Amino acid sequence: GVGPDLAGRHVVVTAGGTREPLDPVRFLGNRSSGKQGYALARTAAARGARVTLVSANSALPDPAGVDLVRVGSAEELRTAVTAAAADADAVVMAAAVADFRPAAYATGKIKKKAGQEPEPLALARNPDILAELAAHRPRPGQLVVGFAAETDRVLEHGRAKLAAKGCDLLVVNEVGESRTFGSEENEAVVLGTDGSETPVPHGPKEALAETVWDLIAERFPGLSED
Ligand code: PMT
Repeated sequence: GVGPDLAGRHVVVTAGGTREPLDPVRFLGNRSSGKQGYALARTAAARGARVTLVSANSALPDPAGVDLVRVGSAEELRTAVTAAAADADAVVMAAAVADFRPAAYATGKIKKKAGQEPEPLALARNPDILAELAAHRPRPGQLVVGFAAETDRVLEHGRAKLAAKGCDLLVVNEVGESRTFGSEENEAVVLGTDGSETPVPHGPKEALAETVWDLIAERFPGLSED
């Protein structure tokens, strides 16, 4: 192991996929299992950090030694991660957050009407939580790290996303219906605002998590003694 190099740090990790409710029984969701975010939370705790894990709809068992906050929608995730970030040294957004939600929530189950075409589904934009966190850092020197799930032209889209989000590091991974989502393994390139590119070969999600903490730890400002 690498020892307790994150001791004295508070880190916040988001995991899983948000669900955007349509009515009491339906939602728009995505294929995230939470495995990559939980691996980040476990490895940070093992390295001595105090960890807040904001978990969106994951079925994984609660990790030991981690403060777990469960959320459903992107709006709930935003509230929880913003609160936890207030005194955090780093925030890592591994959750798959919906960009859009149904524009209206029906308080009763939406019914099909005999002989009628279905209504088009109107969507509203969700806030970009990662961009907000990066733009309004409650603590000087706080590190904000995003993930980018891409299906094509992965590095090109990743570079553009790093600039658009304003975060310090962006972990770019390729996804597909059964690629990365739900898998025990991942493979990624970590892009830095300093132009750095750190490739992480195919391997357990813990291995990628350890590299992400390495890159964060080397960018932390020194701890003040008091
Ligand atoms: O959970 P697993 O099954 O282990 O799968 C892991 C994973 C594929 C979900 C994970 O590795 C991953 O890539 N997570 C980010 C998924 C995602 O939402 O990517 P994106 O490219 O759509 O978003 C970019 C970044 O902005 C992400 O850090 C995301 O958390 C954040 N975001 C996105 C939209 C939004 N409205 N607000 C956000 O903060």
